[in-house]
Amino acid sequence: VTRTIEARPVDDTKNAMRWEQRSIDVDHVSPQSVEALGLVVNQQKLQLHLCRRLEEIADSLPKALDRGLALQASAALPHCRAAHVGLQDGVLFKMARRRMGKEAEGRAMISQLEDEHARDTDHAYEVADTLETLGRGGALTNPEMLGYMLRGYFESQRRHLAWETAIALPVIWRCFDRPSMAELHRRVRSQVGEHSLEAAIAPLMAYRATAP
Ligand SMILES: [Fe+2]
Repeated sequence: VTRTIEARPVDDTKNAMRWEQRSIDVDHVSPQSVEALGLVVNQQKLQLHLCRRLEEIADSLPKALDRGLALQASAALPHCRAAHVGLQDGVLFKMARRRMGKEAEGRAMISQLEDEHARDTDHAYEVADTLETLGRGGALTNPEMLGYMLRGYFESQRRHLAWETAIALPVIWRCFDRPSMAELHRRVRSQVGEHSLEAAIAPLMAYRATAP
């Protein structure tokens, strides 16, 4: 019997892209599969929170740059990348690839996502270095280029996360049966627990601009 589990909605109110609560058809609905999916989706929400803050910086250019926000975002970026890639490449895709065997479409999809992770991680470090320099008082010499760099990163991230949520996660979830889902759940929990993204980016989430 195929039933559905509900992914928690990924809400990105500032962006025009709408994320809606969706169902994933699986035949092994269990509290463990729901919790594991919730942890993965929750981590994506934190990535979107970072995207919103990067958009705030881009929108503030050239005259209203908040250097405190730039510094907090530069500190959060590496944590976001490490958590996303660690959970997906390191746990989810590794196990899914084994479950898929030789199934070509699923393997191609995972390879595409891994390529995007590698590219976006390089881009993220460039953005983080630039924001850190500005956060520490460096001169804003080329605001147009900074805006272009920031928008390139967060728009690419939003597309990546939307595609993952709509296409990749349902395909991946369906290739797990109950016993392998229990193992995935254990590993996802362990990965999320070891690298608490929520704690790492809490200063960015809580950041409020100080009076000029
Ligand atoms: Fe991803």
